[in-house]
Amino acid sequence: MSIIPKDGRILITGASSGIGEAYAIKLAGRGHKLSLLARRKDRLEALAQRLRSDFSADAETIVADLEDAVHLGRLEERLTRDDFSGVINNAGAGGLGFLADSSTQSVERTVTLNIVALTRLSRAALIAFKRKNAGLLVNIGSVLAHAPSPGGAIYSGSKAFVLNFTRSLQMEFAETDVSIQLVMPGPVRTEFFSSQGMDGSVFPAAAYLSADELVEAALAGLENRELVTVPSLPDLQSWERLETIRREFLAATMSGKVADRYGAGDPALE
Ligand SMILES: NC(=O)c1ccc[n+]([C@@H]2O[C@H](COP(=O)([O-])OP(=O)(O)OC[C@H]3O[C@@H](n4cnc5c(N)ncnc54)[C@H](OP(=O)(O)O)[C@@H]3O)[C@@H](O)[C@H]2O)c1
Repeated sequence: MSIIPKDGRILITGASSGIGEAYAIKLAGRGHKLSLLARRKDRLEALAQRLRSDFSADAETIVADLEDAVHLGRLEERLTRDDFSGVINNAGAGGLGFLADSSTQSVERTVTLNIVALTRLSRAALIAFKRKNAGLLVNIGSVLAHAPSPGGAIYSGSKAFVLNFTRSLQMEFAETDVSIQLVMPGPVRTEFFSSQGMDGSVFPAAAYLSADELVEAALAGLENRELVTVPSLPDLQSWERLETIRREFLAATMSGKVADRYGAGDPALE
């Protein structure tokens, strides 16, 4: 039996293009009831219409701006009250640029979308899922969570938040029937780059997956009960090694003494 619940609606944020749109097509094709959320009403309605005619899907549209506190509050309220069976927190933006050259407004917008909205929607969904001990939360992170870079401070930082946030939630819900998956895409051919004035040559052409490939793999990972899915990673052992090193690092910091390299107890340095 599929791990993706069929009883209620699945909310997909950022469904008007790219990865979110690919999730909508795949899930509608599997008979799921969907709520498609984004700001561009025309794109959402065209997609919903297509899902209805191709798959006889039950697809509603929610035109909302996740950077708007009023819209976010309304959605939270609906998530805690209505019978959603899943949430795919996919909407996100790049916010690329050197921090000192960025406006307060653009920094705040990216942090609100990538961190605040994802956090609040996760919380609202999990309140409802906890109550019924069922539900699916998928958070879309990025491999750039592991790649600090000049010009990528906000994006990489926000995706590092998504990584640690989602991994912590998985621990909080480990003993329940609520499923929480973290998906970490590498480069994917979507409007993500063009919408920020970049061409598609940020990464080598061969490094990109299509949104369709990414989502097909993410859903296969979910069915395999993976907590973390990195579709473009050939060898899962790289991820496991990274996790082992993180645990070793943390254990080593519990030494209770200052490391020798800082000269503690070295009379030559006193
Ligand atoms: N493409 C990549 O290489 C890549 C790699 C790693 C991770 N990711 C992550 O994948 C996710 C999806 O990105 P994508 O590649 O599919 O990019 P995309 O094609 O640009 O899609 C972004 C989606 O987010 C929506 N969105 C943006 N701002 C919003 C807001 N304020 N309120 C509501 N919806 C908003 C957009 O719709 P509207 O403009 O209509 O609102 C759009 O549907 C993001 O979280 C991104 O960080 C992408």
